[in-house]
Amino acid sequence: MADAAQLNSDPDRLLFAYWVPNVSGGLVISKIPQRTSWDLKSNLRYAQTAERVGFEYALTQIRFTASYGAANQHESVSFSQALLQGTEKLRLIAAILPGPWNPAVAAKQLASIDHYSEGRIAVNIVSGWFKGEFTAIGEWWLDHAERYRRSNEFMRCLRGIWTADDEEGFTFAGDFYRFRNYRMSPKPVQKPHPPIFQGGNSDDARNNGAEVADWYFMNGNDLEGFRTQILDVKARAAKVGREQHVKFAVNGFVIVRETEEEAMRVLQEIQGKADAEAVEAFKGAVQTAGASTNNKQGMWATSTFNDLVQYNDGFKTKLIGTKEQVAERIVLLKSLGVNLVLAAFLHYEDDIEQFGNEVLPLVRELESKGRGKDVEYEIEQTGRVYQKHSA
Ligand SMILES: Cc1cc2nc3c(=O)[nH]c(=O)nc-3n(C[C@H](O)[C@H](O)[C@H](O)COP(=O)(O)O)c2cc1C
Repeated sequence: MADAAQLNSDPDRLLFAYWVPNVSGGLVISKIPQRTSWDLKSNLRYAQTAERVGFEYALTQIRFTASYGAANQHESVSFSQALLQGTEKLRLIAAILPGPWNPAVAAKQLASIDHYSEGRIAVNIVSGWFKGEFTAIGEWWLDHAERYRRSNEFMRCLRGIWTADDEEGFTFAGDFYRFRNYRMSPKPVQKPHPPIFQGGNSDDARNNGAEVADWYFMNGNDLEGFRTQILDVKARAAKVGREQHVKFAVNGFVIVRETEEEAMRVLQEIQGKADAEAVEAFKGAVQTAGASTNNKQGMWATSTFNDLVQYNDGFKTKLIGTKEQVAERIVLLKSLGVNLVLAAFLHYEDDIEQFGNEVLPLVRELESKGRGKDVEYEIEQTGRVYQKHSA
């Protein structure tokens, strides 16, 4: 097996993260048997395997109540902390939902965790799509633009608190949050502060990605979808002088088998055994959540039933095939400007290790040969597989 430190020595390398299954049911809304558990013990095993085989990040999910296949859910920040305690190098991205969290609580909590973990915490600010969850816990359900305006202030506050002058502290007068000379100590270990991720497809999400986040998370998509989003977010970031600052991460569901046919059969089985009622209900919820955007381009606006069997359109990214095919496609994503691939799997018990042992070394090999820089060349190599969306 390749040594992860050696594998990951190139500073321009693509980074890898995986979705932490801290909610039950895995990462697909399907009745297909899965070797994936949501308890801490199993997750510690997944995290330890992941860091050993070369993953840099793991992303936890926040869900306050059962939803469409996620009957049980462990809380994201405490779960991230527990995984940090059981690992040495892996960085944890904890999901935080403005509304239930106040930025003062989040900034303090994460700064402390940054100390406990010696600088390995990051945060994903999610703006929410699940109305029933908000109303169930007595939180206002704001419309789409307002949810993102609140998230925008939330991220400004996090950054402001973490980087404020020690004497003056942080002062902020927004529509959602107010601070007066707030001095927080200790500040985080990471400088200037722990990385801030956020995601979505909508104009509101793109603006927040460009203006205040460090990372812009994308759902699964086709080539043109990725290309337009990356160019658009970069153009928006350039307007506020942040073009060099914003990095891009993309979600993909990974199925690697000996042959492409075998991998496609697994996909068909996942989709064929979909929990139809739950998928339809999820579809209704997410498409309603995005429908109030100006251009109706919420993250799931054009997703089909089959796409939504994976919560974040991960089949569309087509990391499904032989290890060579998957590695080539990942390198194509890099050439588009993607900096991090967020992977989800069917059988966490086996698939993290397999990905780390079989796919990651191939990606590193291609990168070391200078691949992943010329989009047109990479498109040629993948046989234009991304051109047509057929998942
Ligand atoms: C990588 C990623 C992770 C996400 N994690 C969560 C989560 O843990 N909890 C949650 O409620 N929403 C999560 N979301 C969804 C966002 O909160 C938000 O509803 C979605 O990005 C809306 O997209 P839109 O701006 O295109 O409408 C996640 C989205 C992405 C892209």
